[in-house]
Amino acid sequence: MTQKAAQEMGIFEVMYNNRAMRRLDSREIPEDMLVKLIEAASQAPSGSNMQNGRWIIVRDPTIKQRLAELNRAGVEAYIGPQGSNSGGLPHQSEDKRQRMLKAVMWQMEHLHEIPAIIIACMEFEQKVDSATMARSAGSIWPGVQNLLLAARAMGLGAAPTTLALARQSAVAEILNLPETMAAFCLIPVGYPLGNFGPVSRKPVADIMRFDGWSN
Ligand SMILES: Cc1cc2nc3c(=O)[nH]c(=O)nc-3n(C[C@H](O)[C@H](O)[C@H](O)COP(=O)(O)O)c2cc1C
Repeated sequence: MTQKAAQEMGIFEVMYNNRAMRRLDSREIPEDMLVKLIEAASQAPSGSNMQNGRWIIVRDPTIKQRLAELNRAGVEAYIGPQGSNSGGLPHQSEDKRQRMLKAVMWQMEHLHEIPAIIIACMEFEQKVDSATMARSAGSIWPGVQNLLLAARAMGLGAAPTTLALARQSAVAEILNLPETMAAFCLIPVGYPLGNFGPVSRKPVADIMRFDGWSN
């Protein structure tokens, strides 16, 4: 699909076909496309309209390498020595989960080769702690989702990740963040190596009720 055709996708088509794309080409992304992603992210709402999202696009190979090391530690801890987390879920077959974990492993091995790693941060104007981060996260995730939708519409693959960000002090050191800023999401972005496709979600009848919860 050409970029122009992709940008003509309707909003619902974008939302329903926006899988986490982890296998990405190392081909460079034009800078104006990267800036457009951040502009799209910044259109999202924030609590009290604080607009305190801050976005770092990492292209420097040394910095990417250091982030890749943090991600490796996070993924290894998540997957565990016995490859736990690999069983199926009620809504995801073991086969599909295995495929996802393989993609997570691919991303772990290749993160430093992905052309752009975008870090969604927030600025708090005072020293930030984990309680503040937890309270405020709702103001950065709408921007992350906007970015993911914009990437899909532009024919770029992306995935929201957090495993690399467990050690905030290490992230702050690598990205030169002041003590008033924190990192919430790391989004590798590139041209996809695989195919875009529909997401698979629980049926709406399972997850909604009118007027109050009933079983
Ligand atoms: C808060 C959050 C944290 C996530 N962290 C990671 C991560 O660290 N690594 C990763 O590969 N994917 C991560 N994901 C992506 C999810 O695994 C993915 O969205 C989910 O499996 C659904 O995938 P699909 O949209 O392709 O169906 C994260 C997603 C969210 C919303």
